[in-house]
Amino acid sequence: MPQELTIVRPDDWHLHVRDGAALRAVVPHSARQFGRAIVMPNLRPPVVTVEQALAYRDRVLAAVPEGVAFEPLMTLYLTDTTPPAEMRRAREAGIVAIKLYPAGATTHSDAGVTDLRQVAATLAAAEKEGIVLLVHGEVTDPAVDVFDREAIFIERHLLQLRRDFPALKIVLEHVTTKEGAQYVAEAGPATAATITAHHLLYNRNALFSGGLRPHYYCLPVLKREEHRRALVAAATSGSDRFFLGTDSAPHPAALKEHASGCAGCYTAFSALELYAEAFEAAGALDRLEHFASRAGPKFYGLAPNATTVTLKKLAWTLPDALPFGDAELKPLRAGETLAWRLAA
Ligand code: NCD
Ligand code: ZN
Repeated sequence: MPQELTIVRPDDWHLHVRDGAALRAVVPHSARQFGRAIVMPNLRPPVVTVEQALAYRDRVLAAVPEGVAFEPLMTLYLTDTTPPAEMRRAREAGIVAIKLYPAGATTHSDAGVTDLRQVAATLAAAEKEGIVLLVHGEVTDPAVDVFDREAIFIERHLLQLRRDFPALKIVLEHVTTKEGAQYVAEAGPATAATITAHHLLYNRNALFSGGLRPHYYCLPVLKREEHRRALVAAATSGSDRFFLGTDSAPHPAALKEHASGCAGCYTAFSALELYAEAFEAAGALDRLEHFASRAGPKFYGLAPNATTVTLKKLAWTLPDALPFGDAELKPLRAGETLAWRLAA
């Protein structure tokens, strides 16, 4: 077993960094590990215009520690009323993607899309301008079991979306099921998926082991073991269309340890170490660089980062909590030991 692994500096293709003091608390954690990150637009109010995205970009950059190179890649939050012309402005401003949240699917998604027919002209413009569509692939129909929402989204919406806009680059974000992984594997070169570290490491038992474990609650929710295995197979397959996206989603600890706890796992603090653990367990450490550092840039038409990072097999204990503005932030696995550590 290797004790040390040096890879091209990875990128995080799905990240939540919030705003204000929370943003300043978390951005340094991502910037330490990743060269770039796709920054999610689900602020309150959401980031819906190019001007808002550029102003948000400046706030993210202002939180990057001195001497660290970290490039936020910005996204727009797609609403029923996003004008098609915003896609051209987005491309000209260097905004890379739009995010489709079905209204009500997850944290801060109430401004999301109510009906895909509403946004057809905007998606056509995105296709034309080369703006990537990032999809939170879950139906919101309350009659659908929460564990089935991703698979049903593919059947009811993604298949048609793919047919309607054949050249639109689509990323099925934080894929969590074997149906999702299989769909993406067979969908052709314009369709990809991000996979989180927590969905590679855990199945839904983690939510209930020894009591209710709110820090393992995220959306899409953790699934059965057979799904976790399918995700590990996809991530370690060497495919160009499965790549790293942490979906690290910080919430104040008090709002996670709550009667109606927020969805989101904070993994950015030790993201790369968590992925290394998952890849090592699969006997596929040699595939980590492709998944973390090469497949994503290739899909987005960018060059891989020019620098490297080194991971060492060196046990260390995560802090119990981190500062988060006025609140506390509990990283996934707080107070527990990790086997891999990113060298300074
Ligand atoms: C995300 C958040 O908190 O912003 N939560 C989550 O559980 N993943 C939203 C999202 O990506 O669904
Ligand atoms: Zn997310």
